[in-house]
Amino acid sequence: METVEVLGSQITDNPHSWAQNIGFGRGVYISTYGCQMNVNDSERMYALLEMANYVPVATPEEASLIIINSCSVREKPVHKVHSEAGTFRKLKAKNPELKIGVGGCVGQQEKDKLLKDVEVLDFVFGPDNIDALPSIVSEVVNKNEKVTFTKFQHSKPYQIETLVRNPGVATFVNITKGCDNFCTFCVVPFTRGRLRSRPLKDIVNDVKVLTQKGVKEVTLLGQNVNSYMSDDGTNFAQLMRILAEDTDLLRIRYTTSHPKDFTQELVDVSAKYRTKICDYVHLPVQSGSTKVLREMNRVYTKEEYLDKVRMIEEGIPGVSLSTDIIVGFPGETEDDFLETMDMIEKVPYESIYAFNYSPRPFTKAAKFQNHVPADVSSDRLTRLLKRHREITFSLAKKYEEQTLQVLVEEADKNKAGLMMGRSTQNKVVHFEGSKDLIGRIVNVRINKAFPQTFWGALV
Ligand code: SAH
Ligand code: SF4
Ligand code: F3S
Repeated sequence: METVEVLGSQITDNPHSWAQNIGFGRGVYISTYGCQMNVNDSERMYALLEMANYVPVATPEEASLIIINSCSVREKPVHKVHSEAGTFRKLKAKNPELKIGVGGCVGQQEKDKLLKDVEVLDFVFGPDNIDALPSIVSEVVNKNEKVTFTKFQHSKPYQIETLVRNPGVATFVNITKGCDNFCTFCVVPFTRGRLRSRPLKDIVNDVKVLTQKGVKEVTLLGQNVNSYMSDDGTNFAQLMRILAEDTDLLRIRYTTSHPKDFTQELVDVSAKYRTKICDYVHLPVQSGSTKVLREMNRVYTKEEYLDKVRMIEEGIPGVSLSTDIIVGFPGETEDDFLETMDMIEKVPYESIYAFNYSPRPFTKAAKFQNHVPADVSSDRLTRLLKRHREITFSLAKKYEEQTLQVLVEEADKNKAGLMMGRSTQNKVVHFEGSKDLIGRIVNVRINKAFPQTFWGALV
């Protein structure tokens, strides 16, 4: 079999223009790693492949097409792709028709090197080539060729329609792709390309279609949603206002927001439409040390970050906050780390996503000299997580005896008679109730509150 670098002549990213029946009812299985964008990208892949007559299946054993939707943000991502592809090798030995591809950020990062290194793979594509997937698969299946397709679509406007198969009560809508911030630790600008925003009217239209299908809550997605800028000059705060005013959504969430772009205007809109815009802000701090933040190119100081937190807490009293933290960034001293420990004392984060720094290809920080030894970094991470765990238990306690507004999403999978929903603070709440509550906002009095999960009763 020949390996070809397809440069785009035969491949098309117009999902409506390729041969419709490439799947012939055969199974497709997607293994997903990484962030919510990747989760949403996998949903888009399933939707596109269903249009091409593939059928989603629950296990790789049942599949004729397997896609690894990979993440490259930290810790041995290429290794994970190798080892997962290795487990699929046996399936290919049994079924020579089976095609295996890698998408996502590792695909973009490694390109055709992956095809050369992992013999069992048939195709590689990047996060910016998802709409070309049916066309890529068609090349692979019909011409029996290996394909790499990792071309960025920077020069085109970001015009897609949201594709979700069974949206349910709550779903995701992409509003931006890519990132221009170039934090020195981060691979995302290299794997997802330049920042592009979808036109306002496309987003509003998508949301209206979704609400007609019964969707009550959307989470607007982007690596840095508050740098959103529509072609007609609409910024993120204005987009939020328009969605709150002009659509039937009961709730709006978003992730992720960069502290530098979090504006008073966004706080004001969130306060004005508080019943719709959720009381939850994920505001990644990364480090509490101004020196480290400068080295990371985060363009805010510790004090400026704390000012943003104060602005948010004043405008949206009772808001729930969460954050991302990197421990052991090159040059981080014990004193720098103690500044990060101080952040979790100063800001009442109800959850933190904290990880050891991991050098990433193409990034500036990977070339920095003063790397922190792994044992030192791991020790700091353990201390941070231990202290935060204590904090979260006491933060959760404040919700006990409170009545929260819960959007009911589904019947509890683990126990009959229980329903599951989320509070505006993004807490999962379980309570006794019936299925006709699904899609409604109900008042639930909390009896027992653990950091991420609450138990309560309808009032
Ligand atoms: N766009 C988001 C972050 C996307 S990546 C933002 O700017 O907030 C998600 C998280 O992964 C980051 O917030 C960071 O905490 C972590 N991360 C990214 N690169 C990393 C690296 N090289 N090592 C460790 N953690 C990293
Ligand atoms: Fe990465 Fe920084 Fe962009 Fe977030 S804002 S995706 S951390 S470069
Ligand atoms: Fe991972 Fe790419 Fe998301 S690196 S975190 S899948 S943007």
